[in-house]
Formats: sequence, C-alpha cells, structure tokens
Amino acid sequence: MKRLDDTRLMLGGKEYIPIMIGGMGVDISKPELVLEGARLGGIAHLSDALICAVSDRHYKTDFVKQRFRKYREMAHEENKSFAQFDLEAVREATRLLVANTMDQKKGEGAVFINLMEKLTMNNPRETLRARLLGSLDGGVEGISLGAGLHLGSLELIKDHPRFRDVQIGIIVSSVRALKLFLKRTMKVNRPPDYVVVEGPLAGGHLGFGIEDWQQYDLKTIMQEVIDFLKEQDFNIPVIPAGGIFTGGEGLEFIRMGASAIQVATRFTVAEESGLPEKTKQAYFKAEEQDIEINLISPTGYPMRMLKQSPCIGGGIKPNCESMGYVLDRSGNCPYVQAYKEAETLNQEKVSIKEKTCLCTQMRGHNTWTCGQKAYRLKETTNVLADGSYQVPKVEDVFNDYRFSEGNMINLPKPD
Ligand SMILES: Cc1cc2nc3c(=O)[nH]c(=O)nc-3n(C[C@H](O)[C@H](O)[C@H](O)COP(=O)(O)O)c2cc1C
Repeated sequence: MKRLDDTRLMLGGKEYIPIMIGGMGVDISKPELVLEGARLGGIAHLSDALICAVSDRHYKTDFVKQRFRKYREMAHEENKSFAQFDLEAVREATRLLVANTMDQKKGEGAVFINLMEKLTMNNPRETLRARLLGSLDGGVEGISLGAGLHLGSLELIKDHPRFRDVQIGIIVSSVRALKLFLKRTMKVNRPPDYVVVEGPLAGGHLGFGIEDWQQYDLKTIMQEVIDFLKEQDFNIPVIPAGGIFTGGEGLEFIRMGASAIQVATRFTVAEESGLPEKTKQAYFKAEEQDIEINLISPTGYPMRMLKQSPCIGGGIKPNCESMGYVLDRSGNCPYVQAYKEAETLNQEKVSIKEKTCLCTQMRGHNTWTCGQKAYRLKETTNVLADGSYQVPKVEDVFNDYRFSEGNMINLPKPD
C-alpha cells in the first residue's frame, strides 16, 4: 500500500475512496463543495450550522426575515426564551439543503450531513429532532452526529422510515464518550455504522480543554477506540480526523487500522468552498503563531481560529431575534450578557473581548476557524504573479490526498 487510493472504505455495502470531507459551518462545506467530493468518489458533509439562513441564501426562502418579524418587538429583552424556532421551518430548511444537493449528485460518492448537538437553538431536543428529520426527509445518505454526546439523538428519529437505511456515525474525541453513546444506542437497537475520532488538531470547536489539548494525540486515541471496538466485537469503520494534512499522513492511519480519514482544513481554500476569496488568501498567509485556541465561542467550548479573525474584539448588537442558534434551553447566550454589560459602560464603540456573537459573525465569515495545520496551506499551491495564492479546486485537493505518495503534495496545475 503506497497511497490512499490503494484502499477503499466499505460502508453500507458500498465502496468509497477513503476520504471524508468534514462538515464546515457556516456554509463553508456548501453544496458545490460537497457535490465535488461525492462526484470524486468520496464522502462529503453538509453542515447544519445556521440552517435557516443557509436555506435563505441558496433557495430564496425567507425564514430569517419571518423569524425577525415575529420577535423584533421584544429585542430589548435580555432573556430570549420567547424567540423559539419554528420547528417546521427548521425541518423544511434542512430538507431543502439536503434534497437540492442530492438532486444534483453525480458519481459514486455520498452526501452526508454533520448535525451538531451543541447548536442548542433555544430548544435543544426539538430543534435537533427537526434537523435530523429534515435530513432524512431530504434523502441524505449519512448523518455524522457531532459536537456533543448525542445520548438521546437516535431515539428522536427511531420512527422515521429511513432510520435503519441511512448511515449513522458518531464523532468522538475519547473512548469514554464512545462508550456512553454505544450504551444508549442499545435502547433502540441501532449501533452506529462508523465512528469518527476527532483529535486535538481539528478545526471548529474542540472536545479538549484549552489548557491540556497538547497532551492528547490522535493516533493514541484512535488506537484506543479500535482496541475497544475489537474487544466489544464491533466491526465498524473507524475514521480519524484532525491535522491529517497529506495523503501520506492519511496512509499512516490506514496502516494502523483506520478505514478512511476525515479532513477539512485543506478544503477551506478550495474554489468551491463558501469562504470569500479574501478570507481564503488570509488562510494561505497564516503562520503557525497566528493560530490560537480561545474561549470566545458562547457555546463554552474551545475553538481554534486565526488571531486575525475579524470577530475577535467585535461589539456587534446581538441578533437573536433573527438568528439565536446558540441560545441555551433557558434562552440565554453569554454574548448577550457581555453585550449588555458593555453597553452600560457607555463606550463610544462597544468592544467585547471575552465572547463573540457567533451566529452573526459566522454568517458573515468573520470567525476564521481552521485546523492546527492551516499554516501549511501555502505549501499546497502556486504563488501567482501578484503575490497571491492560486486557489485550487476541490478536485486538486482531493486527488492530492488520494494519489500522492510519502509526504509529497501535488500542487494544482498553474492557472
Ligand atoms: C472551517 C472549519 C469549520 C468546521 N466546522 C465544523 C462544524 O460545523 N461542525 C463540526 O462538527 N466540525 C466542524 N469542523 C471540523 C471538521 O469537520 C473536521 O473534523 C476537522 O477539522 C478535520 O481536521 P483538519 O481540519 O485538520 O483536516 C470544522 C473545521 C473547519 C476547518
């Protein structure tokens, strides 16, 4: 075995190129990117982050406007428990994103969706149910349950006709979390079809502490997961994620017993990614010292991002009447509190260092989250005459992972 292409992922009786593109919210792993991943024979994830706003962007719906009209009169209230999501709208927005993507799918790969539990949306259980059901209604081929333990998630959809046909995976960062999840799946007699093991070098929110993430490493955690599953007689694919930057690195995991790899950071700068052109250039330019883990996400989980992210230290007015995806079950968001406190100081310009307005900032692509290896993106492409970096296509990045040997990186053909 010399390259990733020498092996295949077997899942649900089908064969795939062993490359999964992870979900990247908000709308970074947008339909165009996902469709390319599937066309090339891999598996690619849509993301459920800000699903109503994403539907409005792509399908001319007006879910965000409707929500704002309904709640704008109460915008002065600090507690936002009044601003409940219309569950039918959430289900429909998810269905639209999935069904429209599925309709355009070509090739032998698959379209999956990443559904996050910590996207609490003022009503964690019911809004998650709506996103799960909408995904199944839309014909998604697989669901990766991420950002949380998902102890009750399978029960929410056990009566859906596609419950036993769709591929269901769980994303974990420890054997402990996997054990808890497996225990609960027994209740519905529905074991997961695959396990993604996300290590401390991944992008987005992290399942590790801000102080101790460096003590963990993906290979060790993955080995523990493989050994545990073997002990329990579970024969399901294990897919490592986080910091796998080349095909050669991916192959090392396959040799240890992984069935595929999940990757994301290298696709952030692809032509089909949802990030604006300028932001892609900022990702290319990033140096190692520009990448930090901080606690500004109001979810309370550490998040990795570039220090240059425009959201850091911003002071925009909260907009939970339109958005509100991070509101907890009691209608609170730490950013709303921080904003109220800052307002009372009567500063000319509100600047909030400790938290960010995650919904609005991510919708505007101002939270530049990335994996720890983002500083190597500049090695993966050509420098153009004006000093900027050539934006590769999804196909270039995918085929580099698939076909390159050792730690080589095949650059895209110069434009
Ligand atoms: C820009 C970006 C956005 C991400 N958004 C999400 C997300 O919305 N939900 C999630 O579960 N993981 C998210 N992730 C994590 C990825 O899906 C993936 O597991 C991980 O980043 C893989 O590591 P790599 O980026 O080093 O290749 C995100 C990663 C990046 C880089």
